[in-house]
Amino acid sequence: MKLFKKSLYIAAAMVVSFVSIQCKDGKKKEASTEVAKSVAKVTITKESFGTTEDNIPVDNYTLKNSNGMEVSVITYGGIIQSLKVPNKDQVIEDVVLGFNSLAQYEKPNPYFGALIGRFGNRIAKGKFSLDGKEYTLATNDGENHLHGGPEGFHRKVWSATENQTEHSASLVLTYLSKDMEEGYPGNLQVEVTYMLTDKNDLAVTYSATTDKKTVLNLTQHSYFNLSGDFSKTILDHDVTIDADKYLPVDATLIPTGELRDVTGTPFDFREAKQVGKEINSDNEQLKRGLGYDHCWVLNGKEGEIAFAASAYDKASGRMLEVYTNEPAIQFYTGNFLDGTLPSKQGGNYEHRTGFCLETQHYPDSPNQKDFPSVVLEPGQNYKSSTVFKFSVK
Ligand code: BGC
Repeated sequence: MKLFKKSLYIAAAMVVSFVSIQCKDGKKKEASTEVAKSVAKVTITKESFGTTEDNIPVDNYTLKNSNGMEVSVITYGGIIQSLKVPNKDQVIEDVVLGFNSLAQYEKPNPYFGALIGRFGNRIAKGKFSLDGKEYTLATNDGENHLHGGPEGFHRKVWSATENQTEHSASLVLTYLSKDMEEGYPGNLQVEVTYMLTDKNDLAVTYSATTDKKTVLNLTQHSYFNLSGDFSKTILDHDVTIDADKYLPVDATLIPTGELRDVTGTPFDFREAKQVGKEINSDNEQLKRGLGYDHCWVLNGKEGEIAFAASAYDKASGRMLEVYTNEPAIQFYTGNFLDGTLPSKQGGNYEHRTGFCLETQHYPDSPNQKDFPSVVLEPGQNYKSSTVFKFSVK
């Protein structure tokens, strides 16, 4: 309960500090006021999303703000099942890839919309050591461990509590990950809050405690397509990433340990650039990732919430800005989407029809002593915050 109150407080504080960032910018303020004209009330609705193969009931919570923006989150995997956002003509459309049925989410899929834990991205060969003791995790990505393992947080049914204020709607999800679940030490009590505000911000706040020393790196795995039309690729979106450096990877997508300067490379997104502009360049790193599938080292100070990245779709006018206190962001351009998975809109998800901006610590940190630590000790409170801020221009 204490943890619950604390994270609501953190989420609220984040949104407040966020509002002040935005108020400095006249233009952005104007855009969000315009959207706010059709004033309605903040609402939260709950309906069944079916039952899992193991017969566990799953709910779908829809948080709606007074601008008509809404997010639907299912208790299975804490998955953002839909995110409906106005375009420049006030047309509200879904901007995240996903499925219409629980059965489809239970089949193998590339973590559409899910909460990722205990570890975002890869751990080399599924092994790491803490205090001289080696831990072995499942290898579910060639020889490596990916996104917490085959039975990671994306496949757990979370407990949910809703919370509403005049200008925000929140869903608090909790999950107890038992000692040695998927090979990780410690009973880990995790709490994730999704908060939708009348500023069209979706804040995601994570907190966790453990009873044994462990490693932790939580993130959110939504695939965005700001056009609202999932038959289109995201190659014409303009992206910025506030990072002077990125982490080159080996052939199995594990960081080599080097922090490489983006200057003069296709990895330079410090000025807005179309995703497709250089994605097919003759560049070894792009070949390894089959496109962008890398971690950028953010310029912001670690631990402080700062601007990390943005994406803009000119045709719809939708703009997404990502703010976080995490030191890095994984930019993944849906390179493994191959037309085999069914779209919510009919048809299938084709190559590069969605992109992810996953705020996180660096991949493989438990094995790389020069990377910022991901160790969580008993008595410490893991805290991570990300805001997905939507506007039109
Ligand atoms: C990873 C990709 C992976 C994708 C889906 C991303 O976070 O960086 O390599 O294919 O998730 O699993």
